Amino acid sequence: MWILGIDTSCDDTGVGLVRDGVVVVNRVASQTLLHQRYGGVVPELASREHTQVIDGLVQQALDEAGLRVTDLDLIAATRGPGLIGALLVGYTYGKGLAFALGKPFVPVHHLEGHIYAALAEHPEVEPPFLALIASGGHTHLFEVPAWGTYRLLGATLDDAAGEAFDKAARLLGLGYPGGPEIERLAEQGEPDRVPLAVPLQGQEGFAFSFSGLKTAVARALEKGYAPADIAARFQQVAVEHIVQVVTRAARHTGLSTVLVTGGVAQNAMLRARMQMAGLRLMFPPRGLATDNGAMIALAAWRTHARNLHNPMALPAAAYLPLGA
Ligand code: KG4
Ligand code: ZN
Repeated sequence: MWILGIDTSCDDTGVGLVRDGVVVVNRVASQTLLHQRYGGVVPELASREHTQVIDGLVQQALDEAGLRVTDLDLIAATRGPGLIGALLVGYTYGKGLAFALGKPFVPVHHLEGHIYAALAEHPEVEPPFLALIASGGHTHLFEVPAWGTYRLLGATLDDAAGEAFDKAARLLGLGYPGGPEIERLAEQGEPDRVPLAVPLQGQEGFAFSFSGLKTAVARALEKGYAPADIAARFQQVAVEHIVQVVTRAARHTGLSTVLVTGGVAQNAMLRARMQMAGLRLMFPPRGLATDNGAMIALAAWRTHARNLHNPMALPAAAYLPLGA
């Protein structure tokens, strides 16, 4: 069974082909350069770029797999959450293609796509487990007691984790995306030199908060601390915050398997610290941690048996809570 998966939820056009649950093609047309000089994603530019590239990208993916479009058995696309103009491009394209081919269409929740991506190399994994999705757009911690059941334990109260890295990087005069830049600069810094506290330390729940850190970085700069030291401390504190929330959730739920995904999951310090905390971590394979179409096809492969009633009638949605 060949599934085409499409993701245009934010700034990258993702097209993937999955055959019987195995990723065969994963093509992402990155818009990083387009948005770089603005220090963040410009929604209207993102939508226009998706429109420009999507059809060619699907054709390239089919060519790479040696398929004709009529060989597809199912079309899946991200329904939400995301930037509505961007979402609509891939979602309507997917619906149109499915309609024209007379093949089933499966709307996919973007976060569910992220979760299934992490299972690409761990098909043996069974719930229950925890799932942490930390990217430029989201910071969500779910308890997954059974397939298709998601309990949101906590999310960010303000900025997403990756967004915090991006904003801190910008303040420090570094490039976009900020995560890898901060990680690089932090290697030359000494975290203990900068007083910067771990957010929400006394909390009982599982919320995240990153906007205070951004302000603290700005203040540390004003006070004359060295950028490398600030980067090192910022990374340490952001990572510590995530690790504290996740380990508390692990204790609370009795679950020690944690699926970690999203751009921030690439952070080496985060991976090391979570492992030190005794958690059993699962990561998506390279190329599947960040937004992509293959993860949407993987999620559709796992969920299409749900047989949604009239999926064509479901609209794209910028705001779409998972498990609610
Ligand atoms: O999953 P992703 O590509 O999707 C979007 O949100 O579009 O995540 C990108 C985010 C950016 O904010 C970036 O700064 C962050 O992930 N990121 C990292 C690292 N690599 C990427 N954050 C911390 N450490 C990294 N090594
Ligand atoms: Zn994402």
